[in-house]
Amino acid sequence: MSLIHTPVLLKESCEYVITNPSGTYFDATLGFGGHTAEFLQKLSAQAIVIASDVDEAAFTESQERFSGDSRVRLYRFNFTKIDIMAKLEMVDGFDGIFADLGVSSYQLDEPEEGFSFKLNAKLDLRLDKTLPSTAADLLNTLDDTELADIFFKYGEERNSRKIAAKIVEKRKIKKFVVASDLAEIVTQLTPPNYVRKTMTRIFQALRIYINDELETLRQFLNKSVNLLKPGGRLAILSYHSLEDRIVKEVMKYEALTCICPPGFPICTCGKQQRLKMLTGKGITPSQDEITGNYRARSAKLRVAERV
Ligand SMILES: C[S@@+](CC[C@H](N)C(=O)[O-])C[C@H]1O[C@@H](n2cnc3c(N)ncnc32)[C@H](O)[C@@H]1O
Repeated sequence: MSLIHTPVLLKESCEYVITNPSGTYFDATLGFGGHTAEFLQKLSAQAIVIASDVDEAAFTESQERFSGDSRVRLYRFNFTKIDIMAKLEMVDGFDGIFADLGVSSYQLDEPEEGFSFKLNAKLDLRLDKTLPSTAADLLNTLDDTELADIFFKYGEERNSRKIAAKIVEKRKIKKFVVASDLAEIVTQLTPPNYVRKTMTRIFQALRIYINDELETLRQFLNKSVNLLKPGGRLAILSYHSLEDRIVKEVMKYEALTCICPPGFPICTCGKQQRLKMLTGKGITPSQDEITGNYRARSAKLRVAERV
């Protein structure tokens, strides 16, 4: 199973994250352990890697993969609990914190995981299967304005109102259960060349809403800055503009030395610079990497260092 997710920007992530071979590191999105395994190769016997994932299949597989390595501590926790994991492991600060956001290829391809477009796949989209509402629940209960707002805000879908209205109309006849129920509507309202793109946007929007992904990311980033040692690195791999915007905003804010209004004669804000940006516009995969792994095409890696 570990071969079914190809890690993105693997060498680049590792080069940026690992600065101290005997240090303490956090991989927020363990998945099938692709990045964790690469980090471990560069680390000494004294190093520690704490890693988390909410997905059961990925967690179980990785538990087995790293069971013989005493440097690895795994948690089936949301990464917003980074501070709790650090406490449990008696770690005061990290030399590197890494997150490879979103879902793995396994989650996207395996119909049982509920993220797939495959026709008979359940409309679920919960990263953590203990969350209360699935995608099908939302499609069957929210009103058309709420649905349209979700599609527009989190999927940047221009046709959001029409799609939402059609969903509400259709569910009076048959409830939404599997991906084909949604695909049918999107196909009716979208030119054939855009069906896949529209489905991707709607799935992205529902996934972000269901898992509260943007707020979760913000919380995680803010806690991470508090938990970095001086010189420690925060490296975040994102896959769409909404995630990337938050990563950029938080890093830029933490890199500011002053937030006084322009023209103030002396600085009174007391703002402390906590990060230094290392990657400018961010690092993107090479054409070769994208050719070998199409899912890498939208990835962007941003890295900052604690000052
Ligand atoms: C792109 S995959 C990571 C793949 C991993 N780097 C590898 O090489 O195998 C993202 C993983 O993050 C997990 N994930 C997403 N959001 C999470 C969160 N808030 N807390 C914990 N895990 C999360 C997903 O379940 C998924 O397994």
